Parts: sequence; C-alpha cells; structure tokens
Amino acid sequence: MPRLTPAELARFDRPGPRYTSYPTVPNWTELPPGTVEDALSRMDHPAQLYVHVPFCEQQCRFCGCTQVVAGRQSAGDTYLDRLDAQVERMPHFAVHRIHLGGGTPTWLDTTQLRRLARIITRRARPMPDCELSVEADPEITTLDQLRMLTSMGFRRLSLGVQSFDERVLTAVDRPQLTHRVGELVGFVKERGWTTNLDLMYGLPHQTPDSFSETLEQVVGLRPERLAIFGYAHVPWIRRHQQKIDESALLGVEERAACALLAQEQLTAAGYVPIGFDHFALPDDPLVTEPRSRGFMGYSTRGGDMVGLGPSAISDVAGVMWQDEPKLGAWMRKLDQGERLDQRGWIRTSEDHLREAVIGSLMCDLVVDIEAVEAVFGVEFGTHFADALDELHSLVQQDLVEVDLQTIRVTERGRLLTRLVARAFDPAATAARFSQTV
Ligand SMILES: C[S@@+](CC[C@H](N)C(=O)[O-])C[C@H]1O[C@@H](n2cnc3c(N)ncnc32)[C@H](O)[C@@H]1O
Ligand code: SF4
Repeated sequence: MPRLTPAELARFDRPGPRYTSYPTVPNWTELPPGTVEDALSRMDHPAQLYVHVPFCEQQCRFCGCTQVVAGRQSAGDTYLDRLDAQVERMPHFAVHRIHLGGGTPTWLDTTQLRRLARIITRRARPMPDCELSVEADPEITTLDQLRMLTSMGFRRLSLGVQSFDERVLTAVDRPQLTHRVGELVGFVKERGWTTNLDLMYGLPHQTPDSFSETLEQVVGLRPERLAIFGYAHVPWIRRHQQKIDESALLGVEERAACALLAQEQLTAAGYVPIGFDHFALPDDPLVTEPRSRGFMGYSTRGGDMVGLGPSAISDVAGVMWQDEPKLGAWMRKLDQGERLDQRGWIRTSEDHLREAVIGSLMCDLVVDIEAVEAVFGVEFGTHFADALDELHSLVQQDLVEVDLQTIRVTERGRLLTRLVARAFDPAATAARFSQTV
C-alpha cells in the first residue's frame, strides 16, 4: 500500500490518550491511606527520580504543563524549603536517572539550583553512571547556569523550541530569541552533553510550509533527539488556552500534513523514528538499546520512578500516584504534615498485562504474542478477542498486521500507533481527549 496521505491520516485520527502509563491518569482514583509509604518501602533500586520545578518566566498560551508565573525569585526559595520537607519523608534510595522538569527548572538561579541538588541527594544516591538531565527554556537559560550544571554532572539538555517562526511565537506569547537555541546547543555540545529539542505543530498561524522550515533549521543543529508534539488544544481544561485565536489554528488535514512532514524530513535527515513522536540519531542509546516509555518520555533507564514537587507522578512497586498539582496547596499540605498524593492506582495483574502490550506497541510498534502468553499465562486470541476485532478495520487499511505470532504497526500506520494501543484499553471511552495526531 502507498504511504499514508494527510487526508487519510485526518480521516483515521480519533481522540485518544498518549499512554505514558496504563491505566491512564484520568482513570486513577483516591488511594487508601498508607499505600504510598508501603510502595516506597518496597522500591526497586536503582530508581529514577523526577523533580518538578513549576516556575516559568511567562505563560505560553499553548502550555499544557503544570506551571506558575512567580513574580519574585524568592518564590524559588519558598518552594525549595517545601521540597526539602518532602525529601524528609522519603527513604534513602539509589538512582540511575535524575530529571529536572517543569515548568522551567532553569527559572531557578544558580544558587537555588545548587541547593536543589543538595536537597535531593540527601535521600537519592546517584549511581556512578547516573544520567542527569534538565528541561530548559532557551529564552531564560544562561551559560552560567549551564556551566554550573555541567560541574554537577548534568549531560542531557531538553530544550523547548516549538517553532522558529516569529509569527507563531508572537501568537502564543512566547518571546524566543531563535539564535539562542543554536548558542545553547553548541555550548553544551562542547561540554559533552547531548540535546533533545521539542517542536510543536498545530500552533496558531503555523502552516505545513513554515513547520517544514523549522524542521530544516532544527536538523541543522543536529540534536541527538527530537520530540514532535501536536498541539493539544484543551481550553476546557487549560483555561489560558482560550486566549489562542482558534480561527488561526490549522485544520485536521493540515495538522496531519505536518505530522507526516516531520516523519519524512527527519528520516531523510538520518534520524530514526521512535514510536510516533520521537526521533533519535542512529547511534543514540534510544535506538541501539532496549527502551521503555513512561511519564518522562522514552528512556533506556527504566525501573521505579519517584516524583518530587507539585503534580509529580511516581510509579513505585506497582503503584502509581500523582501529588497535589497546585503549588500553594502542595506547600500547605507539606506544612501541615498532610498526605500529598491526590490520586493514584494500584495495578492489578490484568493492568500489568495490558500495560505490557500497550508499552510494547508505543516503544517498538510490535507485540510478541508468544512472549506475552509465556509471561502472563493467557491465551492471547481469547483474552483480547474484542481488541483484535477492533483492529480489523486497521488491518484492512494496512495500518497494522496481525498474525499468530505478532501484532505489528506498519510503517504506514506509525502515526496511528495510539489508535492501535487504544484497542487494548477498555477504559478509553468517550472521554474528551485532544486529537491523536
Ligand atoms: C515543560 S515544557 C518544556 C520546557 C520549557 N518550559 C520550555 O517551554 O521551553 C515541555 C514540552 O511540552 C510541550 N507542550 C507544552 N504544552 C503543550 C500542548 N498544549 N500540546 C502539546 N505539547 C505541549 C512543549 O513542546 C514543551 O517543550
Ligand atoms: S511551554 Fe514551557 S515556558 Fe511556556 S509556559 Fe509551558 S512550561 Fe513554561
């Protein structure tokens, strides 16, 4: 069958979750008291550590992250006092990955970043090969901060670029000096870092042509990894997105054209697609080593994950939970000694099975039926009869292949992987999601 056209992609596209976990966050409920402490006591080491730093200099209109605009730098100190209190509640554990995300961790100044490192390492002991990574916004990140982070052992920078198109950046209230991206990438490369750049399509006034130009510029910087996100427009959840001029947003077919352009241009430039929205250079560990997908994106460092900070998600000993997302409430709960977990999920054996199937599709676009049967002791065809039925129409369109041994998303179907995964998720009902593509 020929490659997917934008019209076909737009036609097949249905709203669906991003499957950074299974069951997905909207299905989680309140956990019984003591569940989190019990899970932490059974943590598998070395684990991964995520620290959510919620601050930003300004609010981009498109933003779907949990962030706040704090006028004063001292808000960082107040946050760090509470982070300190949260760390006090943790057991000692070894880590092989630490990721600072946000918001914008580099909103903290160098003194605050140093203090943050001292706080988390009171409980989290980095293994000698621990991977340290940080998310940053090119507008506010300074070379001094990057020098200091280098001395602390950070070697992976994730920069939000979104677009190089001035008209688009203005429409989303994101002042960005385009040349800063190249400067920062060059600076850290010289110091042995690798970089991940985030791009978005579907933003106001963006066209397939202007997106294609951004792709060309970004390829010229040769980042090791790229993440390409379709703008998730959910103004009924993220109220500030109501400031986006909806008449300037792309139609579904043009969005689909952008997603296809990214696949074509990045593959032609030598990148290897990972799942449906990430790309890496051929010698990157994400390509050469087994990978997993979780709340922090794709990684070769799997295992239990401890999240610190407001809205952070943890996944420890088969239990997932999300902490209080609002900065003020998160601080108050710490001050008053209250529990932080707001909602969560204790996985059943059925969840583990479905998670393995969905995870395998999201990572490698394939399910090894025999391996799943051997590990989980089920007869795949019987257990997943409904899902296999649902896949039938996708098989007819050559988007997925199913035989007795494997389920494989075809290259033509790559961008619709989430739809294939959705067939194995009984809870993916009529909930309102953003578009899949
Ligand atoms: C925490 S932000 C990145 C770091 C930094 N704050 C910045 O903006 O440069 C994580 C990424 O999520 C993506 N993102 C944010 N809002 C989104 C939305 N509504 N839809 C899709 N992707 C979004 C952006 O690509 C962004 O770079
Ligand atoms: S996109 Fe990044 S900089 Fe912009 S508001 Fe969201 S987290 Fe902050």
